[in-house]
Amino acid sequence: MDKVSEDIGKFYHHYPRVAVVVTARFNGRDNAMAVAWHTPLSSKPPLYGVAISPKRFTYELAADSREFAVNFLPACRVDLVAATGGSKGREMDKFSAFKIARQDSVKAAVPILKDAYAAYECVMVDDRLYGDHRLLVGEIVAVHYLEEVIMADGTLDLGKVGPVLYLGNEQYLDVEECRLRTVDREFCVGRLKIDH
Ligand SMILES: Cc1cc2nc3c(=O)[nH]c(=O)nc-3n(C[C@H](O)[C@H](O)[C@H](O)COP(=O)(O)O)c2cc1C
Repeated sequence: MDKVSEDIGKFYHHYPRVAVVVTARFNGRDNAMAVAWHTPLSSKPPLYGVAISPKRFTYELAADSREFAVNFLPACRVDLVAATGGSKGREMDKFSAFKIARQDSVKAAVPILKDAYAAYECVMVDDRLYGDHRLLVGEIVAVHYLEEVIMADGTLDLGKVGPVLYLGNEQYLDVEECRLRTVDREFCVGRLKIDH
């Protein structure tokens, strides 16, 4: 490598990342937001971490309920990922505005997205501030998945479904066509509101 910088601004070298939709519910209010910063932390017990800014309405709901869900959407629903990441739950009900279909959770009181090919129900075991984000650690108490897209060894069948691969700065990798695609979050907010 021929370049080094100690002036750390925005850095995207850890992308592409699978962008997910984190959902939470408190006091009868559901919300959803796009999250690119998330990671498995332990398999026994099964722990999953999501890095969420405390400014997000989703953080407020998850902190109050101590529960959240991580929803993995197929590449064909990149619009929903972008729209939930380009809108604020404090200002609108994203579920009704974007016609987001829900299905029942089994253990935690969290919204599970019908369009997801997999989803984790999580019960919060830790919530800690790191700089400008909070790391919410949840124990996965139930896993939902679409059986037809999972191979015998448990891995994703990419011939059937592609994950939403985010490169940062509104750029997504279209895994089916293997090409770069710009998906503007503000545009998706408007389009999903009128399309359905
Ligand atoms: C693809 C994508 C990934 C994002 N990843 C994160 C993330 O990891 N953490 C975070 O706090 N915000 C992230 N955001 C921004 C939030 O989704 C955005 O601020 C959203 O409006 C928050 O919604 P809420 O206030 O209704 O919770 C991301 C946005 C996009 C479009």
